[in-house]
Amino acid sequence: MTASLEPLPRIDAYEQWQQSEGVATVSGFYIEDLNALELGPWKRKGGRGAIVNLEGTGGVNDMHVVEIAPGGASEPERHIYEEMVYVLSGRGSTQVWYADNRKSSFEWNQGSLFAIPLNANYRMFNTSGSQPARYAAVTNLPSVLSLFHSIDFVFSNPFAFTDRFSGAHDYFAGEGRLHRGRTLETNFIADVHSIQLHEWKERGGGGTNVMIELAQNSMGAHISQFKPGTYKKAHRHGPGAHVIILDGLGFSLLWREGDPSWQKCDWTPGAVVVPPENWFHEHFNTGPAPARYLALRFTGLHYRQRAAFQGGGTDVSVKLGGAQIEYEDEDPRIHAIFERELAAHGAVCRMKGLIPWCTSER
Ligand SMILES: [Fe+2]
Ligand SMILES: [Zn+2]
Repeated sequence: MTASLEPLPRIDAYEQWQQSEGVATVSGFYIEDLNALELGPWKRKGGRGAIVNLEGTGGVNDMHVVEIAPGGASEPERHIYEEMVYVLSGRGSTQVWYADNRKSSFEWNQGSLFAIPLNANYRMFNTSGSQPARYAAVTNLPSVLSLFHSIDFVFSNPFAFTDRFSGAHDYFAGEGRLHRGRTLETNFIADVHSIQLHEWKERGGGGTNVMIELAQNSMGAHISQFKPGTYKKAHRHGPGAHVIILDGLGFSLLWREGDPSWQKCDWTPGAVVVPPENWFHEHFNTGPAPARYLALRFTGLHYRQRAAFQGGGTDVSVKLGGAQIEYEDEDPRIHAIFERELAAHGAVCRMKGLIPWCTSER
């Protein structure tokens, strides 16, 4: 054995990669508007972009915001990490293939959602000659790179995951299969703003939802909507759920159990908030129309990741071993904040009968 007086260095392979990319980075608790996010050159993508690391991820996943110039295309790439893509603006097409060169191609528009099958080659094309195309992708690159700490393994790996992607020409046709429990298995959603949602009574607020499993990923997504003048019940879960506001006006409250103070994030479409691991959080609609969000999560439902999965049910009361706070168990100051915010927006509370101390007439 040899001895050294120096401590063993701590290496963060993801951070090293990020620095070597030389791309713009964004951090913080939440983002006000993805559409307004400042981007810089990103050679690997062949366009402009930024890497977003929000505190609530705990470092398990990240977000890549990329813009492709009018008439332009991204550099072809492949990688051993999952990537769910939400199109913020513009229109275009994507080619996807493994080494066999059977190319699947599909078109997308503002509001489309899809996943790049794991380690498939892909290239994005902006089919507009005048408008840039911008997308936000949530990836599990931070976890993957930390596990393997090899850029070559992650970005130049010939393995084809044919169990996830067969090269079928209709793979991205958006047909999908709806399972019990509002769970849609699909590889492409044309428009997250208009896709049909289903009643989810247990979460409150007259809310509707669809759970989404894309491309046999271990990551998952969902879309939720709730009515004007309402909010869903507070709950908590693991890290890395990027909540992207699609439609509506409102705010979110987030807090640690037992902590009397909370973080308040006001939002409009394009905002992103990531609830930190096990923090309770609650989303409030103070606008005149339904509020809808897309959550791009670290964990899916089909393929569970044991360490990250929160058991107990996110729609079951904490008093029954779940992770949700029922309305009657909520800190009364929360509803007071909500009613104050509603008044400031000239809106009315529609939760009489749900909240014992609600002061509304309706
Ligand atoms: Fe949540
Ligand atoms: Zn009220």
